[in-house]
Amino acid sequence: MHALKPSTATDKPSLYADLARQLQALFEAEPDAVANAANMASLLFHSLPDLNWAGFYWMKAGTLVLGPFQGKPACLRIAVGKGVCGTAAQRRRSLRVDDVHEFPGHIACDADSASELVVPIINGAQILGVLDLDSPRKARFDAADEAGCESLADIFLAHQRRHLGSLAKLVA
Ligand code: SME
Repeated sequence: MHALKPSTATDKPSLYADLARQLQALFEAEPDAVANAANMASLLFHSLPDLNWAGFYWMKAGTLVLGPFQGKPACLRIAVGKGVCGTAAQRRRSLRVDDVHEFPGHIACDADSASELVVPIINGAQILGVLDLDSPRKARFDAADEAGCESLADIFLAHQRRHLGSLAKLVA
C-alpha cells in the first residue's frame, strides 16, 4: 500500500515537484494506464487544496469519455468543442477558467464547481484525453498550477509510452 505523504511545500512549484516525485513512486513498474490514472486522480484530489473534482476524460471514437476520477459522479461523454474539457481538447492547449459560470457552454457536472483547469494529454499528433480539475473557489488555478499539472500529465504520458499496449486500450 502507498501512504499519501502530505506535502510540506510552501510554494506551488515545490508542491508540484513533490507531487511529481510521489507520482513517479506510485507508477513505479505498473504498466496499466487505468490503474495509474486512478491513482493520479486520487493523489491530485487529496494533495491539492480546494478541489471538488479531479480526473480524466479519454478520447474514444472522437468523443471524450469519463475516466478515473475523484469527486461527485460526472457527465459521461463530452463532445470535442463543448464545455471547458471539449474546448481544451479541440484547441490542444491547457485552459484555465476563473469563473465557469462566465464560460459559454460550460458543462455543470457539480454545482459546487466555480473554476476549472483542463490539461490536454497529447501523444505526438494524437490527443488521448484531458486531465480536468475543478474547484469550488473562483480563480483557484494560476499559471503555476497550469505548468505544474502539465508536468504531471507529461510524467503520466512518458510512463505510459513505455507501456504502449495499455495506452492504446485507454482510447480504444
Ligand atoms: N465542467 C466540465 C465538465 C466536466 S466536469 O467538470 C467533471 C466542462 O465544462 O467541460
